[in-house]
Amino acid sequence: MLILGIESTAHTLGVSIVERHGERYVVRSNEKRVYTTHGEGLIPAKISEHHISVIDELFRDALGKASVMLDDIDLVAYSIGPGIGHTLRIGAAIARSIALQRGKPVVGVNHCIAHLEVGRVLTPARDPVLLYVSGANTQIIAFDAGRYRIFGETLDMGVGNFIDSIGRLLGIGFPAGPRIEELARKGERYIELPYTIKGMDISLGGLYTNIKQKIELKKYRIEDLAYSIQETVFAMLIEAAERAMAHTGKDELLLGGGVACNSRLQEMARIMTKERGAKSFAPEKQFLLDNAAMIAITGGMMHAAGVQPLKPRDMIIKPYQRTEEVEVIWR
Ligand code: ATP
Ligand code: FE2
Repeated sequence: MLILGIESTAHTLGVSIVERHGERYVVRSNEKRVYTTHGEGLIPAKISEHHISVIDELFRDALGKASVMLDDIDLVAYSIGPGIGHTLRIGAAIARSIALQRGKPVVGVNHCIAHLEVGRVLTPARDPVLLYVSGANTQIIAFDAGRYRIFGETLDMGVGNFIDSIGRLLGIGFPAGPRIEELARKGERYIELPYTIKGMDISLGGLYTNIKQKIELKKYRIEDLAYSIQETVFAMLIEAAERAMAHTGKDELLLGGGVACNSRLQEMARIMTKERGAKSFAPEKQFLLDNAAMIAITGGMMHAAGVQPLKPRDMIIKPYQRTEEVEVIWR
């Protein structure tokens, strides 16, 4: 079975072709175009303009690299939410056009759950606690009583947005994560920063204000600040994830989301899991960042389990969909 995945929750427009053989998935293509900026933040109208301008070439590339035609596709999966309304609407409109023109079945996929499912398919993790750290989202998710439940999350901003906001203060541009990681490697001194974790939830607002003040003082080396930011924030994340593992009794930690590309975070995850006799996993980078293959894979699982295709009028978007709203009949 050939599945076409479409991802459009935010800055990334992705199109992927995935082949399903029972429980095995082969990614035939995973194309994306990412809206980036130099210095300024993300404006929804500008991101949509970008996405619309690249749709044609993106489809050509994704179908071409997989050597398939649109008519060969058996199922279309698009990200239904959560995300930015402006950009979600683009993915939903593409899915609806394909359904109307070619009569293909379509399913709507929760973006956060897709970050977890791609890891279950592409790494040895089977029943993990997911530390999902991306731009807008920071959640600790695990399967419990028929649903993916959020055990802990950020009480204010997502870790990626937090890092990108600091990047803006430093004039780095979007995305700032890789650049902060580079600076952090040259850090020599730990600067004391607020550490805010409540149970399995974390908060970053106070930390942001504190760092903003420190940057304005111009008293600290940027490299030391970057290093201290990573050490502090990642320790908070790993501590919350460890609590969720202890609470659920699960012995696998899976990383997902763009911030999980960070090698220091991956290292901390390995150390924590090893100390508890557990294991940590992360799919390769193209599947950590927003991508359409994870949408196609999750759509394939849903379809195989009997989730009914959507009627065209139900191919809507759910910008505020919560992870636990989704009934998971495929596990
Ligand atoms: P969401 O999944 O919530 O829709 P998103 O679309 O912004 O969020 P991703 O594409 O998964 O998320 O991740 C992008 C984020 O990852 C950006 O905030 C970026 O700064 C961050 N990031 C990327 N690489 C790194 C890195 N090496 N270290 C830290 N952060 C990183
Ligand atoms: Fe994401």
